[in-house]
Amino acid sequence: MAANKITDKVYSVGVQNPDLRVFDIVMATRYGTSYNSYIVKGEEIALIEASHADFGGFYEANIREVTDPAKIKYIILNHTEPDHSGALADLIRLCPDATVLATAVALNYLKNIVNAPFKSRPVKDGEVLDLGGVTLNFTVSPLLHWPDSMFTYCPEEKVLFSCDVFGSHYSSEKVLDKDVENVEGYREAFKGYYDAIFGPFKPFVVAGMAKIAKYPFEIVCPSHGPVLTKDGQLPYVLEKYREWSKTVKNAVKKIPVFYCSAYGCTAKLAEAIAEGVNEVIPDADCKTYNIIENDMAAMRAEINACDACAIGSPTLNSDAVPPVWDLLAGVDAINSRKKPVAVFGSYGWSGEAVPNLIARVSGLKMAVVGEGLKVCFVPTADDLNAAKEYGRQLASAIK
Ligand code: FEO
Repeated sequence: MAANKITDKVYSVGVQNPDLRVFDIVMATRYGTSYNSYIVKGEEIALIEASHADFGGFYEANIREVTDPAKIKYIILNHTEPDHSGALADLIRLCPDATVLATAVALNYLKNIVNAPFKSRPVKDGEVLDLGGVTLNFTVSPLLHWPDSMFTYCPEEKVLFSCDVFGSHYSSEKVLDKDVENVEGYREAFKGYYDAIFGPFKPFVVAGMAKIAKYPFEIVCPSHGPVLTKDGQLPYVLEKYREWSKTVKNAVKKIPVFYCSAYGCTAKLAEAIAEGVNEVIPDADCKTYNIIENDMAAMRAEINACDACAIGSPTLNSDAVPPVWDLLAGVDAINSRKKPVAVFGSYGWSGEAVPNLIARVSGLKMAVVGEGLKVCFVPTADDLNAAKEYGRQLASAIK
């Protein structure tokens, strides 16, 4: 690992983690990642982002290649997730004169991340910091992808420090995009990163890109993955962010019915609910999905793209079955609020699956239709009529 010069006044001092295969517990990182950090040198010196706590030795060595840490006047955090703030506690000791600059929300989070006193000052949207010969402009951009987030722009060098935005989990000692050898792999990592981190925040991506449109940046220094340049991947990255962040409305109402079924009883309810949906909205895209016979990633994409849905589970061990919980673990909680959901299931003894699922989807702020539908053992003709009526109620909730 080593420091790299990006422009006359901007240096990359972050660390590589090429062996990482899972980020944040759930995100596959086939190409590893990097925890980028940058130094901007004017008459005064600023450090942007603080890297991951686990790589302190490498990080300190990289910083020392560029400057004595004691000379750093400002530590700027565009976002405080611990992959960018984990090393802050050590930095505060290394840089005794530094003041931490971040949004007010970010500083509030940092109190509980650092758990020690440090010098800090909140920055406001539009504020400019003069380092002497070089300036930094702050643009607050909430929910990209935390409430604390902001961009930092250096007009003299035409460099935008974007933190997670435009980032990728792609590790390479060659920090510039033009030196990336596996462009296809980089683009795969870039897409996976966008989907996982920014997919739930598309309206905020659009708003953030509108805010930075006034800056004629030619280089983007993200906090993961290669530095992006106007002759390298930057045009591709900007085009893809615009394309992927467009809100797409379903051409016809999409109302999938997801279920698991041990002996076909919950499956019968699923089919009856779908019939009821199609009675109210004949052209609805209302497919039934036995969860264990389908790809979970595809099911998660389906539930996040739908207008409304139904979810059914038998009761096993006083609960809904694991594949149903697995599906719900992939629900985009930001964009599923108020989405109508019908909950149903057949049971034998006690029937906890339906109330437990109702509690979960209510926690996701989805709009539960009615009180759920529970049927003991094999559905009768009356039970199937009730299921059909439940499907009609579900469709009526979005008609
Ligand atoms: Fe790379 Fe949201 O942290």
